[in-house]
Amino acid sequence: MQGWLPVDENTARAGGPEAPFQQAESPLVDALGRVHNSLRISVTDRCNIRCFYCMPNENVRFKPRHEILSFEEIERFVRVVARMGVSKLRLTGGEPLVRANLPELVRRLSAVGGIQDLALTTNGILLAEQAGELQRAGLRRLNISLDGLREETFRRIARRDGLERVLQGIFAAQRAGFEKIRLNAVAIRGITEDEVVPLGEFARRQGLELRFIEFMPLDAEGNWQQEQVLTGEEIRARLEDAFGPLVAIERPDPSQPAVDYQFADGMGRIGFINPVSQPFCGDCNRLRLTAEGQVRNCLFSTVEWDARAVLRGDGTDQQLADLVRQCVAAKKPGHGIDSPVFVKPQRAMYQIGG
Ligand code: 5AD
Ligand code: SF4
Repeated sequence: MQGWLPVDENTARAGGPEAPFQQAESPLVDALGRVHNSLRISVTDRCNIRCFYCMPNENVRFKPRHEILSFEEIERFVRVVARMGVSKLRLTGGEPLVRANLPELVRRLSAVGGIQDLALTTNGILLAEQAGELQRAGLRRLNISLDGLREETFRRIARRDGLERVLQGIFAAQRAGFEKIRLNAVAIRGITEDEVVPLGEFARRQGLELRFIEFMPLDAEGNWQQEQVLTGEEIRARLEDAFGPLVAIERPDPSQPAVDYQFADGMGRIGFINPVSQPFCGDCNRLRLTAEGQVRNCLFSTVEWDARAVLRGDGTDQQLADLVRQCVAAKKPGHGIDSPVFVKPQRAMYQIGG
């Protein structure tokens, strides 16, 4: 069989130990034709703060260590899905930087054949200490959560202190040489309206991309109300009042959830993720792996596929691949937040991975 396969000349000449990567399996396409090439991997359900839109404030019951996938298990899962066309990875949590030796996982995953993009979403608290090592390990893209610039807002949302550390984390990431740093701001009516313009100002001044995300019903305490959703359109109006017109940027990739704009003066890029007011499920290309090895086809799934059982039960790569295919095949058309029969998933954001 080997003889007729195309061989990468450089690899052949260097006598590289690994065969050139080939997407050996057919892609992960669901019943609606959505091709899944993006995987979000939660590496822990733990976190060092307690944002109300995600976690309970007290007495959180974290998963015991032995239930959490090891780096070897995560890497094996990624190798299997990479052969089915997954090329983009994002590490999430909980807070991924509380997982010990995370740069080691970054090194492993960035070396997997077929992986073209490796990103991380963090709350930034531990970033000042880790930015340099993560960059050297091969991480290229970073999303940092920052919902406002006032200590009071931070405390109201995170229910802990930490704004100054997050800001130091952002500056450290810039010094470490990350090319693409994006700020994620969850927008909540009654709390973050007055943060919109200062955040825009900060992002413009620092040369960072800024994304506003609508508050979704994924809070552990189950307090989400539709009225608390500060919509992307309202935020856009506030920004235009302050900075002048925003000009839409063509979307190179229709599956990216954000609608992006640029300020007319060319300074700064702002995106809006509007899952509640403008669902984008029709273009979704994402799969999720929870920290304890459950595969999900949606943030709002009420069903999961147990990859850990296959990984730890002597299952074959083929069985793992079949499980992922079943999960993709069962994906629903949309989250249905607006529907009267919407059922909130049992898991909250920190238990799924953002
Ligand atoms: N709605 C919207 N965004 C959320 N995030 C966490 N919980 C929610 C929610 N209920 C965001 C975080 C972070 C990312 C992981 O997801 O702010 O940016
Ligand atoms: Fe922690 Fe992120 Fe959840 Fe906030 S949103 S509590 S930072 S995991």
